[in-house]
Amino acid sequence: MNEKKEFTAYLHSQIGNDFNTEQIEVLIEKPKQLHQGDLAFPCFQLAKVYKTSPSEIANRLSAGTLPELFEKAEAAGGYVNVFLNKKSFASQLILKILKEKENYGSQFFGKGKTIVFDLSSPNIAKPFSMGHLRSTVIGSSLAAISEKCGYETVKINYIGDWGTQFGKLIAAYLKWGSEEKVKENPIPELTALYVRFHEESEKDPSLIDEGRKWFKQLEDGDPQATELWVWFKDVSIKAFQKIYHLLGVGFDSYNGEAFFNDKMEDTVKKLKEKNLLEQSEGAQIVNVGEDIPPCLIKKTDGATLYATRDLTAAIYRKETYDFDQAFYIVGHEQSLHFEQVKRVLNKMGYKWAIDMHHVPFGLILQNGKKMSTRKGRTVLLESVLMDAIHLAENNIIEKNPSLLEVNEVARQVGVGAVIFHDLKNEKGNDVEFSLEQMLKFEGDTGPYVQYTAARIQTLLDKGNFNGQLPDVCSIEEESWELISVLNEFPSAVQNAFVRKEPSIISKYVLKLSHRFNHYYGSVKILNSSQTPERLALCTSILLVLKEGLRLLGIQTPERM
Ligand code: ARG
Repeated sequence: MNEKKEFTAYLHSQIGNDFNTEQIEVLIEKPKQLHQGDLAFPCFQLAKVYKTSPSEIANRLSAGTLPELFEKAEAAGGYVNVFLNKKSFASQLILKILKEKENYGSQFFGKGKTIVFDLSSPNIAKPFSMGHLRSTVIGSSLAAISEKCGYETVKINYIGDWGTQFGKLIAAYLKWGSEEKVKENPIPELTALYVRFHEESEKDPSLIDEGRKWFKQLEDGDPQATELWVWFKDVSIKAFQKIYHLLGVGFDSYNGEAFFNDKMEDTVKKLKEKNLLEQSEGAQIVNVGEDIPPCLIKKTDGATLYATRDLTAAIYRKETYDFDQAFYIVGHEQSLHFEQVKRVLNKMGYKWAIDMHHVPFGLILQNGKKMSTRKGRTVLLESVLMDAIHLAENNIIEKNPSLLEVNEVARQVGVGAVIFHDLKNEKGNDVEFSLEQMLKFEGDTGPYVQYTAARIQTLLDKGNFNGQLPDVCSIEEESWELISVLNEFPSAVQNAFVRKEPSIISKYVLKLSHRFNHYYGSVKILNSSQTPERLALCTSILLVLKEGLRLLGIQTPERM
């Protein structure tokens, strides 16, 4: 609601044109103590300008006729404190939410601008790691939040599908591989071949040359090498898509590293033209400052590198999408890499390099140690998600044995639990992975929020709510706390965007759920003379909970 704007307009009408509305609005504070009202305006700056005491100004400014949204104004200690007219504020807010529905909280500052997201980006023929899970979940949520702020988004899954390792993999497959086994169980099989290659090459170094030879063949477009590589990529992406399907995420592009093979020469040419390339021990590098190591562009044997591809991809993306910002959702350990890439682009004269942001995040731990998706040989993320779904199913059957759509609800709850657990703390923190913890229906979990939403849905069904706020309604003291949390949603959305921090939304939906459950325990919602307005409030809460969960990438089952 625009209580701040209305207060500003009121103050402006009292002060006159010596101060404009922006100057006034930035001064407005939220008082710490309840008895100081809902908004406060400090009069010290005005006092300096007008050479009078702050309290005299405060007295004068509290004496005018307030807009309807406010009940009273008080002058105290050099401040004008205003108190909201709770009834009118609450009914206006509820009406607004009922009218705007899932658009409540939307912002417009991103209109006409595009953000490119680089997210998920697993490596083919390797397991989808916990880090890739975090990148997928954080990136998808940030994209949804950006869209809510008006931005266009482009979600790019920059698949790791190029590099010398594919020469090794081809060599290993031709020596020891079986088509059938790879088809049956692609990623574990390919990973095992790769591991075996490394083990055997310690005994027999000639294998290394063979791997190199195959990579060269691949680069030169040899049909056999290409066919195998295409196949490896195909089966890998199919396996990743099972995970994406479970998570309910999608991408606008799968242009991975290999997509830039034929575009890198151009980048190298540009670097040469701008005299940025230097020789160092046979390799070609760009110096990017004393404080960090140079950026490697070509190896001694002329092969390009990860950085060469990222440089090329950034230029391509700027040309293709004309982005206002580009977010790279990638773990902390690649900070140096992105710093180097940005500095090279900057040296090339691309001013937009400052619009590229590496968005790093912490690790997923198990018992305090970095979690490996390759525990034993092949614990895959897909099975972690399936475990979560099964556990959720057990919990649901225990709580609600008569539920019909158990499978679908279990998927929504199990996956929601994993996502929420990831997004509930600031993204820079490490996350301790515990399925039992994240699936609890009580405590700060995804299922708790989903369960709260389902509880509201049941109330609405029972109460036969018609979706309208009654003409005459009394909004009571008990609901005030809920109203003020509902009112915070738009600024939570904005803060989550500005700080690139989905946890602001998770904390918000937890707070709203806690407040609702408290209200539910203290107020009789159904069969009371105030049922209609209470159900209107419940409807608003449900709308906001659902929308908050959606921004996190979590679905809201109707029943649980
Ligand atoms: N495939 C890389 C990895 O798994 C992540 C790619 C991140 N994005 C990028 N533009 N470099 O480590």
